[in-house]
Amino acid sequence: MSSDPSMAPDLEQEQKSHRDVVSFVRRGERLTQGRQNAWDRLSPFYVIDPPRGHRDTLPAEGIRLDPAEVFGRKAELVVEVGSGTGENIVAAALAHPERDHLGAEVYLPGLAQTLSRVERSGSPQNLRMLPLDAQGALPAMLAEGSIDQLWVYFADPWPKQRHHKRRLINPPFLDAVLPLLADGASFRLATDWAQYAHHMRMQLDPRPELTLQHPEGPRPEGRSSDPIPANIPHTGWAPRFEGRVKTGFESKGQAAGRLIWDLAYTRVPRHLG
Ligand SMILES: C[S@@+](CC[C@H](N)C(=O)[O-])C[C@H]1O[C@@H](n2cnc3c(N)ncnc32)[C@H](O)[C@@H]1O
Repeated sequence: MSSDPSMAPDLEQEQKSHRDVVSFVRRGERLTQGRQNAWDRLSPFYVIDPPRGHRDTLPAEGIRLDPAEVFGRKAELVVEVGSGTGENIVAAALAHPERDHLGAEVYLPGLAQTLSRVERSGSPQNLRMLPLDAQGALPAMLAEGSIDQLWVYFADPWPKQRHHKRRLINPPFLDAVLPLLADGASFRLATDWAQYAHHMRMQLDPRPELTLQHPEGPRPEGRSSDPIPANIPHTGWAPRFEGRVKTGFESKGQAAGRLIWDLAYTRVPRHLG
């Protein structure tokens, strides 16, 4: 993008730095030989690989994704953002052959592990992976109202104050994805960090597009090794979603003595929102 000559340099700089805040870090991207083999065999079918835009985690302008065309049918669409090594999205694709599933993940070794898992589990056809930054890619590629379930499980907690702007559950991500939810769609989240759970409630509860599925749902019980904010809501928490499998991140959180906080919202029908 070329710079706007009418814009003051410091404002332009601020806008640039805000635009470049991302919720992930690029770590080692090298694949073991086994994972590289899985990638070579499976990525042509399972990985959506559009031309890239101004970052290699963003699609080029104007690239659209039509789920009916990709999956060859019209079905409910489940999208998981930050699908990691694919524990949840692969299990869901196997458990629900009647639905289509899209996992968005920027971490290449995680994507390669997802493909190995796919192959080991019988290669479900109702799953595709998007190796892009969900915040930029999903609104650019998907139509409004096209997602029936959106999942964000164990998103990076970014615990330091100066990193809070990198948390996925913040206004830029919500502004990007909430319009993509179909009327009545579910938005499910889970985290093992009490501070992030509280942050999620502060971001999500006031959104007019969303309503809590379990307004009376009690807070998780027990002791937590991480500090629980004194003003964290006592109700509004979801029971563990039966379709959510336990991932390595959940196990690690529990082993460290943290509680698991589940949330579920419904997208308010547009004529009411
Ligand atoms: C802590 S891991 C959790 C993975 C998985 N949900 C689980 O429970 O095992 C968070 C993942 O989100 C991915 N991620 C973070 N921001 C993302 C974004 N904007 N788009 C796509 N993936 C993202 C990271 O690369 C990382 O793999």
